[in-house]
Amino acid sequence: MDDLRQKYLSAIANAADEAAIEEVRVNALGKKGEISLRMRELGGMSAEERMTAGPALNALKDEINSALAARKAGLADAALDARLRGEWLDVTLPGRNRRQGTIHPISQVTEEVTAIFADMGFAVAEGPQIDSDWYNFDALNIPGHHPARAEMDTFYMHRAPGDNRPPHVLRTHTSPVQIRTMEAQGAPIRIIAPGRVYRADYDQTHTPMFHQVEGLAIDKDISMANLKWCLEEFVKAYFEVDNVDLRFRASHFPFTEPSAEVDIRCSWEDGTLKVGEGDSWLEILGSGMVHPKVLQNAGVDPTQWQGFAFGMGIDRIAMLKYGIPDLRAFFDSDLRWLRHYGFASLDVPTLHGGLSR
Ligand code: PHE
Repeated sequence: MDDLRQKYLSAIANAADEAAIEEVRVNALGKKGEISLRMRELGGMSAEERMTAGPALNALKDEINSALAARKAGLADAALDARLRGEWLDVTLPGRNRRQGTIHPISQVTEEVTAIFADMGFAVAEGPQIDSDWYNFDALNIPGHHPARAEMDTFYMHRAPGDNRPPHVLRTHTSPVQIRTMEAQGAPIRIIAPGRVYRADYDQTHTPMFHQVEGLAIDKDISMANLKWCLEEFVKAYFEVDNVDLRFRASHFPFTEPSAEVDIRCSWEDGTLKVGEGDSWLEILGSGMVHPKVLQNAGVDPTQWQGFAFGMGIDRIAMLKYGIPDLRAFFDSDLRWLRHYGFASLDVPTLHGGLSR
């Protein structure tokens, strides 16, 4: 009996997994197990022999059963411990995305434009998107009756009935930042002002919200020639080409005199735009010499100072450079579009490191 006990208890202790435990159980207590057979032999024993062998066998059976159960539980605990150790995870870590987000083409182009003009000594200025009609219109030499107000499809802010103060508007262009910057800094000035602007318009090349970048250079002797040089340098750097043809076309803006709209030489081949060659021209900006009345309205003495200004459509030049056909898709927040046209989030555009590569 002691040998049996010894044999099975050590077999149980050495069983390395559930299958081994089961094997021990079958060998000892299964139908044809060694202990089961012994118990069957009880029938052939004398009553006296049975009196001692019976309880001893039963006790042995119980002992082995509980040893089996204990070993089983021990193995299960060890397996769970191993699994917990193997599958350990720090739930306080931030989530890991399968794919990084991208930089929107508008942000990318704004960065590119900023890098190029920063290299020419232009600082970045900003103004509010909701502005008074003084800053958006009057100060820029656009009086109340001027047709430019109607042409701009202005969004007017709501006013309480009976409130007769001049209205605020969603700025229709970035030109009010000219006034605010001159008021705040005086001359000389060299700034660009990128930002959102609003006009009630919607088709393939117009959205009610879009982006402009204003440029303003004021000093004692700034001329139209400086404007031309700056814009040519900008366009070459921005489109990453050595040669560009710009066409300065006489135009009219109430806040510049003289005024010019600027077209860029380009060609369309198979629906893709090539800048710098071809027989087509594409308008990219409005510009001119800042009107003396505008300087005066902003507290800058027009007998001392003069300069140029320009206003360029950021969305427009983004579409041109990156071949994006429909402006409306810029603001749809469609992930497929963003992944296709977006830029790597860690590639900061610089002139030395490359703007778009
Ligand atoms: N503000 C003009 C527009 O939105 C552009 C412009 C800016 C023209 C500065 C001349 C000078 O169309």
